[in-house]
Amino acid sequence: MTEIIFATNNAHKLSEVQALLGDNFHLLTPRDCGITEDIPETAATLDGNASQKSHYLYDRMGKNCFADDTGLEVEALGGEPGVHSARYATDGHDFAANNRLLLKNMEGVKNRRARFRTVISLIIDGEEHLFEGIVEGRIAESESGCEGFGYDPLFIPDGHDCTFAEMSADEKNAISHRGRAVQKLVTFLKSR
Ligand code: IMP
Repeated sequence: MTEIIFATNNAHKLSEVQALLGDNFHLLTPRDCGITEDIPETAATLDGNASQKSHYLYDRMGKNCFADDTGLEVEALGGEPGVHSARYATDGHDFAANNRLLLKNMEGVKNRRARFRTVISLIIDGEEHLFEGIVEGRIAESESGCEGFGYDPLFIPDGHDCTFAEMSADEKNAISHRGRAVQKLVTFLKSR
């Protein structure tokens, strides 16, 4: 079994990604490795943040690791909240406040097109590799569902009439931004 550190302490993300990786890979969190501080993510882009986080871990642990960064990019808002998705409404990760602000900013807006985009930076044997996953969809008029996290109650992926928060974890993983980026990561890791 291959151990890899995944730069997250978000239990939802950890279980989503572990399910996609399967039993051949064992994910460790920064906390499992004694890293308790917040890992800096101060770059201006998703790629920059993913890369900053994986390098931070690699510099400290010297072990294979990966980090992801995700943004919800809303067409009518010029790509916002984008790289600011976690801290859209407040300084913390207040999902409810973020969703309220998004709905407010989308009041009366006809163009509801949006996409989730994930970038993963993997550092393996000292080399960095980037993987991207995108899911296109639209922003609902109100929140529905209680699965998942973050903007899930407001995001309706193309080809569906329910939000991510109304889907099971398996259904979401099969088509999600992170699912697609992780699939590319898995294909890469298995091909080595
Ligand atoms: P992170 O880079 O994965 O931490 O994501 C930044 C922010 O994007 C999170 O705090 C959430 O608000 C949002 N986000 C990331 N992934 C998802 C998802 O799968 N569903 C809904 N919101 C997400």
